[in-house]
Amino acid sequence: MNRKVLVIGNGGREHALAWSLLNSSSVDLVICAPGNGGTANLEGCENRSIDVEDFSSLTKLVKEEALDFVIVGPELPLSLGIADHFRSLDIPVFGPVQQGAQIESSKAWAKNFFADAKIPTAASATFTNPQMAQSYLKEKGAPIVIKADGLAAGKGVVVAMNLLEAQNAVEELFMQGYQKLVIEEYLEGEEVSVLAVTDGEDFRLLLSAQDHKRIGQGNTGPNTGGMGAYCPSGIVNPEIEYQIRENIFLPTLAQFKKMGIEYCGVLYAGLMVCPDGVVKILEFNCRFGDPETQAILPLLKTPLDELIVSCIMKDLRKFPQLEWHQAHSVCVIAASEGYPGKYTTGHLIEGIDSLSHSDALVFQAGTILDGKNILTDGGRVLGVTGVGIDFFAARNQAYSTLEKISFEGMYSRPDIALKKVQS
Ligand code: AMP
Ligand code: GLY
Repeated sequence: MNRKVLVIGNGGREHALAWSLLNSSSVDLVICAPGNGGTANLEGCENRSIDVEDFSSLTKLVKEEALDFVIVGPELPLSLGIADHFRSLDIPVFGPVQQGAQIESSKAWAKNFFADAKIPTAASATFTNPQMAQSYLKEKGAPIVIKADGLAAGKGVVVAMNLLEAQNAVEELFMQGYQKLVIEEYLEGEEVSVLAVTDGEDFRLLLSAQDHKRIGQGNTGPNTGGMGAYCPSGIVNPEIEYQIRENIFLPTLAQFKKMGIEYCGVLYAGLMVCPDGVVKILEFNCRFGDPETQAILPLLKTPLDELIVSCIMKDLRKFPQLEWHQAHSVCVIAASEGYPGKYTTGHLIEGIDSLSHSDALVFQAGTILDGKNILTDGGRVLGVTGVGIDFFAARNQAYSTLEKISFEGMYSRPDIALKKVQS
């Protein structure tokens, strides 16, 4: 087939996408724009330093290189209408149009969408006025959740356990320039990320994964983009899966269709399985998760390019079922000291070159190739994914590989998937 693919983005997710595509015998070349140190060094993959917002240079690249299709990794270009742009030029693209991407880019839009589609979710109210937001907080009390309306790289949500924290969060988020906040009922339960690929009509669930959102051991400290993930989550039994299909994904696709929005791409549901067994949606993302993708894709047996092309061609029926390796995976993020706050970059990463086949997969995120050196270039630097017959094996591989890698200020959570080996 000799497919050539453009992957847009520069994170660990994009490295995992490129790696997974290149595992398919039908893919010859992946170009990443802008890519990172990992995609620069990946055999069969090339980087082009084009910004994800530079639609015209990306279009030129697709045409000059005669690329077959485009996968959009991050939410930002989707929320700016990159899929609409490529569609208008008849360039095959995997990722939703701008209207569809609002499911992630605006928490307030998403909450209205959930209400219209009758999708179970936490009760909430939306505020543009700080005083009204503060009086609502006083009325509701804590714990309570404050969400900034707009893209915030996983950092615009504050789960406030007391009223003072909630009041400070509201003040702080308005001061940061957010115009709208959603204040939401606090839900207890077990969180799970369930991603589906869809052609707008049909959808296929990927294996579920569990992210670790907080920066600190034992789920403490501020929220991050995700400090690690494991797959499968073990939470999605047949009854839960039934709810996820019938109460979450089917009404979501039906609502998109009703609104005339053609949604081709990934629908990523951040779900809460509440103590009474009811599954509620916390958020939808319009793209692959990061780091869930680094945990999920190593278990996917179905060729990723075939799956994505069938979505683009509106022919997902071709895959009645996805195939998976009978294995478990654990992805541990190595982050820069200070993340999700301020951190420094440009530190030499040592140890990756000398890893062997028995080591974990190292998906690079915030890295850059400088001559032969790989330097840190972001908050989340690496995603190290161990794959094994069980979670013990997968965890051991991830953490023992991580021990062979170092950079100044390297930080990782020691407890990713810990509960899976303690139970
Ligand atoms: P979101 O970006 O909306 O997924 O929120 C980020 C994280 O905040 C989630 O992964 C949850 O851990 C937490 N969170 C969000 N909404 C709620 C809620 N209503 N109740 C409890 N925790 C929440
Ligand atoms: N891991 C969370 C996200 O991708 O949004």
